[in-house]
Amino acid sequence: MANILVTGGAGYIGSHACKVLAAAGYTPVTYDSLETGWKDAVKFGPFEQGDLLDRERLDQVFAAYRPQAVMHFAALSQVGESMTQPGKYWRNNVSGSLSLIEAAIAAGCLDFVFSSTCATYGEQDGVVLDEDSSQQPLNAYAASKRAIEDMLDNFGKSDGLRSVIFRYFNVAGADPDGEIGEFHQPETHLVPLMLDAVDGKRDALTIFGTDYDTPDGTCIRDYVHVMDLVDAHVLGVKWLEDGRDSRVFNLGTGTGFSVREVVKQSGTITNREVPIIEGERRPGDATALVSGSQRAITDLGWDPKRSNMENMIADAWRWHQNTGAHYSE
Ligand code: UFG
Repeated sequence: MANILVTGGAGYIGSHACKVLAAAGYTPVTYDSLETGWKDAVKFGPFEQGDLLDRERLDQVFAAYRPQAVMHFAALSQVGESMTQPGKYWRNNVSGSLSLIEAAIAAGCLDFVFSSTCATYGEQDGVVLDEDSSQQPLNAYAASKRAIEDMLDNFGKSDGLRSVIFRYFNVAGADPDGEIGEFHQPETHLVPLMLDAVDGKRDALTIFGTDYDTPDGTCIRDYVHVMDLVDAHVLGVKWLEDGRDSRVFNLGTGTGFSVREVVKQSGTITNREVPIIEGERRPGDATALVSGSQRAITDLGWDPKRSNMENMIADAWRWHQNTGAHYSE
């Protein structure tokens, strides 16, 4: 079956994408520098270590595997770090993507699925964000993703590159089989930090701000199960396979959960209290980010069937309990 080049295949979302690609009959070829990824997470196809900025290495890999499409997850993704070290984000994410796109085009691989973010919309409180909402990135991470979206559009016009761009809302959960899961070093995301606090790996979860203009004072986000998210990517590959045009799709559920609601739900799954500290707001956090994802459901045939909070926490908790929620290398 066809090879799909998965950059960042050793990371959280990329590794789950490899699993569903393999199940759908594709061969996922992971290309990852292991700067933030884990070799142990590469279980479903070949692994090629390399940096996006290493054009020669990319050319070798394209020549060796002749992929039908690229799924591009590899990126630095810490909002806070992006504000203190923007150069890292412009170099790795933007220049790295340019190198990848040029290598793909040179190899005649013109189908491209890209991992973007709802953070490109910026702060638009009270608005359900659909794909036509204006993009006003508030940090260098989001700006880098927005720039890559533009790049894909430009290369579409010049070279016939066809892209499916997914703007993710908040991704959570883990492979229900427990083979792979979420492990970032350092960890900044709500669900794994909360579960670390539940099982004593850290003292408490700090809630970042309790004075937001929301019913319970904490931030609202739209959480999507990682398996649903990667299912959409397989549909994206098929969309391009069917010869359709470039498109942008939001991936969220349209339902917002506050931080306190997420914490409360975890109690019903783990039967344990989450130790909490009520802390200050985290700079750069929007009050509420909720997706309008109708386009993915209607046009792509996406079915976010696992994306209820109970499933997401239960699957993340299983990964925590079975493996300690980490990889060793
Ligand atoms: N939160 C806490 N305490 C923590 C961690 C998070 O209260 O220890 C809160 C945050 O303030 C936020 C919510 O939990 O309200 C979710 O925070 P995450 O850090 O899990 O996720 P973000 O919404 O900040 O960011 C995620 C991705 C980004 C992406 C963004 C788009 O990490 O890459 O979604 O909104 F850009």
